[in-house]
Amino acid sequence: MLRGPQCLLKVSVAPVAALAVALLSSLSRCSLLEPDDPAVSALSPYFGTKTRYEDANPGLLPDPEAPRRDPELLEDACTPVQLVALIRHGPPCPAGGRDLGASLADWPLWYADWMDGQLVEKGRQDMRQLALRLASLFPALFSLENYGRLQLVTSSKHRCVDSGAAFLQGLWEHYHPGLPPPDVADMECGPPRINDKLMRFFDHCEKFLTEVEKNATALYHVEAFKTGPEMQTILKKVAATLQVPVNNLNADLIQVAFFTCSFDLAIKGVKSPWCDVFDIDDAKVLEYLNDLKQYWKRGYGYTINSRSSCTLFQDIFQHLDKAIEQKQRSQPVSSPVVLQFGHAETLLPLLSLMGYFKDKEPLTAYNYKEQMHRKFRSGHIVPYASNLIFVLYHCKNATTPKEEFRVQMLLNEKVLPLAHSQETASLYEDLKNHYRDLLQSCHTSDECELPKVNNTSDEL
Ligand SMILES: *[C@@H]1O[C@H](CO)[C@@H](O)[C@H](O)[C@H]1NC(C)=O
Ligand SMILES: *[C@@H]1O[C@H](CO)[C@@H](O)[C@H](O)[C@H]1NC(C)=O
Repeated sequence: MLRGPQCLLKVSVAPVAALAVALLSSLSRCSLLEPDDPAVSALSPYFGTKTRYEDANPGLLPDPEAPRRDPELLEDACTPVQLVALIRHGPPCPAGGRDLGASLADWPLWYADWMDGQLVEKGRQDMRQLALRLASLFPALFSLENYGRLQLVTSSKHRCVDSGAAFLQGLWEHYHPGLPPPDVADMECGPPRINDKLMRFFDHCEKFLTEVEKNATALYHVEAFKTGPEMQTILKKVAATLQVPVNNLNADLIQVAFFTCSFDLAIKGVKSPWCDVFDIDDAKVLEYLNDLKQYWKRGYGYTINSRSSCTLFQDIFQHLDKAIEQKQRSQPVSSPVVLQFGHAETLLPLLSLMGYFKDKEPLTAYNYKEQMHRKFRSGHIVPYASNLIFVLYHCKNATTPKEEFRVQMLLNEKVLPLAHSQETASLYEDLKNHYRDLLQSCHTSDECELPKVNNTSDEL
């Protein structure tokens, strides 16, 4: 049953912009509701890429600074040698209307000034806390001695640069509890290095830009789902709740309303009255709409989506190779910790390239029901502050004197079984062998080149 709050039900204006204004004023009239409201927490697993980290990782809620050790992590005979982490920024200030349809041109920026500071603050806190947990989990790698050797790379976007800085401040707190952190520019390891070719490879891939990003028909299934029966059901329900004609609403507006609910929760920890407009069945449909977009634009939908991340994939293995080489020569590892700050759009193509979260059937506009139990759920994979970590270990085998290097992958601080074996750890050589083709013959520059038009034929 819908729990329409009284402050919403007064709305009865027709034009969309007026509707928005009325809802905005009702929003500010409504008192901030309890954050733990069961109606909100019931929706929060379905916020897709706008999911809070703690919703994908509920174990963190009681104490987000306490270290959290996955029992599958290697120990005893294995010592961590290097950690390469890809980290998505925390919840940002939403970019004004960037993702919204043209019909929303008049939609007011409901998250204007009064929210900005708080938005950024929640993202900083996520990063600080992630730093504290990782530093406790891998004390030898994040030692004070290694601090000056931290390697930080980031996308040029403010939310990523800021995330890197907040992560460093978290580390500072770890080393110097109680002391206020210095400015990032004055820190020993210096400010993060910007590298968009690596962290925003999708902006530099001509083939991706032409065939997917700027291609009006590439997201066919997303558009078809917006006008399909599942969305129609929501439109009618919301129109009835708001007492407006169903023709005044469309899928884009519904998405904005759902995002508003998720932003208020993700950023301020408060319940927006918008959340009362939706029930769990609606949330599942809207989650699917979000996943469809990620699937066709960043995931398995088109091969180029993942192939455009080959350079990043190889960069990770180059770090691991170098650490092994140094270790074998008994030299100190020059970059024991490599931190790379990017986007959901950075992580999803890479995970797809590596074969993770692949469903047997593609996600389409027409198989919502069949995909109810799909693997590709972006809220589980890339919530805010999500992180994919490669840990390289040096292991001494008790029975043979042979030394080995092993790798584990962690997604959002949980061990991610390897795609090829489902094992929780792999010999480094086996992993490289499995990805041999990608390591040897996937070159972003070739992959991203547009097919050449052959002009040498008939018309000459
Ligand atoms: C746009 O996408 C459609 C569907 O995948 C494809 O058939 C078409 O060739 C693409 N257009 C361009 C310019 O790549
Ligand atoms: C262009 O077309 C001609 C004639 O069909 C063919 O012989 C030639 O190999 C093509 N060139 C390229 C670069 O594909």
